[in-house]
Amino acid sequence: MKFPQEFIEKVREANNLVDIIGQYVQLRRTGGNFQGLCPFHNEKSPSFSVSEDKQVYHCFGCKASGNVFTFLQNYQGLTFPESIEYLARRAAIPIPELSGEGGGSQAKDIKHTFYKINSLAARFYHEELLRLPESHDVKKYLKARHLNEELVMAYKLGYAPDDWSMLARHLEDKRTPMNAAEQLGIVKRRTGGKSGHYDFFRHRLMFPIFSPAGQCIGFGGRVLSKEQNPKYLNSLDSPVFHKGKVFYGLDHSAKFIRSEDEAIVVEGYMDWLALAKASINNIVATLGTALTTDHAKALKRYTNRALLLFDGDSAGKTAARRSLPILLAEGVHARGLFLPDELDPDEFLQERGEPALRQLIQGAPDLFDLVCAEVWLGHKGSPTGKIQALDEIGPILALTSDPRLRRLYAQNVAVMLDVELRLVEQSVARAANSTGASVPIQKVVRPAAAPVVAPSEGVKFDLTKLPRVELELLNVILMKEVYLKEALAAEVGDKFSHPGARAVFERLAEVYRQMPSKFDTLSALLTGEVKPAESITRHLSEAYTSLSADAATKLLQDCIKRVKENSLRSQSKEMVKKLRGAGPANSTEQLEQIMNVQKTRRSLSRDS
Ligand code: UTP
Ligand code: MN
Repeated sequence: MKFPQEFIEKVREANNLVDIIGQYVQLRRTGGNFQGLCPFHNEKSPSFSVSEDKQVYHCFGCKASGNVFTFLQNYQGLTFPESIEYLARRAAIPIPELSGEGGGSQAKDIKHTFYKINSLAARFYHEELLRLPESHDVKKYLKARHLNEELVMAYKLGYAPDDWSMLARHLEDKRTPMNAAEQLGIVKRRTGGKSGHYDFFRHRLMFPIFSPAGQCIGFGGRVLSKEQNPKYLNSLDSPVFHKGKVFYGLDHSAKFIRSEDEAIVVEGYMDWLALAKASINNIVATLGTALTTDHAKALKRYTNRALLLFDGDSAGKTAARRSLPILLAEGVHARGLFLPDELDPDEFLQERGEPALRQLIQGAPDLFDLVCAEVWLGHKGSPTGKIQALDEIGPILALTSDPRLRRLYAQNVAVMLDVELRLVEQSVARAANSTGASVPIQKVVRPAAAPVVAPSEGVKFDLTKLPRVELELLNVILMKEVYLKEALAAEVGDKFSHPGARAVFERLAEVYRQMPSKFDTLSALLTGEVKPAESITRHLSEAYTSLSADAATKLLQDCIKRVKENSLRSQSKEMVKKLRGAGPANSTEQLEQIMNVQKTRRSLSRDS
């Protein structure tokens, strides 16, 4: 599942990081770099820096850093291969066939065909809608639902005509492989001996559904009147569309979910659009299904906090309750909100307005507490009622992957039911045993921490706990080619005390030797391979860029000297230790070595 390195480089070179980031962040040129408000955390004064020369970014506030691929991964939630494909398409670079990928390149071609057909259909529906007069049913319907032109344009809403074959004919005109269109569920094969296809969606308001990478993967279509049935239809499940996995609207909301560090989950298209209209943007909609493990995993690319904003009716409550253990098992911290009077979010906004909703959202309680309260209300305060409640809550607790959270919840339950904590813990253990599901409550299992930076090209070098001076040295080296040259000449490579830094320097030297003309791409290359990435993008900071050439050279030389000194110091310590252990027998030679080391150290400090 790997693209050739040259291809990756070509894609990287064809896409200017400043342009890509500039799509989402307002960047201002300051000195050699660009600056703006960091898209990865909330801030009022800009601490986000982008280097056009080096093609890397760095935030001095939250330490987010990386190259064009990591930006798309972290900001848009793409995987590394997806980010490459996205950028390749953007630069019109043909994507090489991948060998050995699940399904192989043929499956890939088929997916591309599917995306193409869907986007043809999406454009068709959208244009149909746009060309209709205001007097048309669908236009009237839009008006009645307060869906204005802006929303129609932004989210490419469409209209499937009241006709049996307009889309089918359109697709045929465009030489679409109709089998594939059939698999997507947008057309159906005629039966009864007739040839050809007919349209699946007819006389419906169409919501195209896009992947986070912006590919059209399917549709939802809503009827315009109560007489028509069913209310909503979806595309068929296909290699590009799985109703129980996908969210509506994630292509638009991913960045907001990341910056708000919370995803608001609603149940339907209309709710999603109503929230978007109210400028609440960190939103996703399930397609009317309960939240699945796949959904939870998808969300975790952006945040590990979710707020379930489900309908206040009993179906909404049941859905929220079912979702809770799934979210907790995936380590997603969930809040919940049941809207009053059985309203759904769309209706609530219409009736009570945006400030009221924002207020409720702000104060939304923990979903666990909410669900427990529901459970508790369903039982009486008698001992048997308490046991029943414990039997319902125990399994949820047993599935909670974060042991700290499980403990805190258990305490809440004990208080709420007015029972001993031990009793709650017993119920958890029982549930864990009977399902074989999770872990006994005593055993501490550390939850997998969400990575701050998504894995990219593959992290090869670990720079955690890098000594300050070595950190500085690597960063000065990356500023200018002459500095790298000087460091190479000084043979500082094997003097780094940190094994990761040694490896990084070696890698730098190797790549630089192969392509000396590409010095500027080194930072971008390494940032995908180093953890934490920010340890080699610090040179974007003013602390470095504001240095005069003399000062920078001085810093470089100083760092080199100190790294060498440290290396000698630990070498001599090492020797002394060995010497002590080995006894006097074989020590003459070693003593000489030590004398040499000491001598070099002295001469080094004399130089300064
Ligand atoms: P709802 O019935 O709650 O409708 O279905 P809604 O979202 O409030 O839509 P409006 O306001 O009546 O237009 C919630 C979601 O369940 C799915 C759809 O994704 C819908 O958005 N659904 C619903 C279906 O897939 N099929 C149906 O027949 C009904
Ligand atoms: Mn509704």
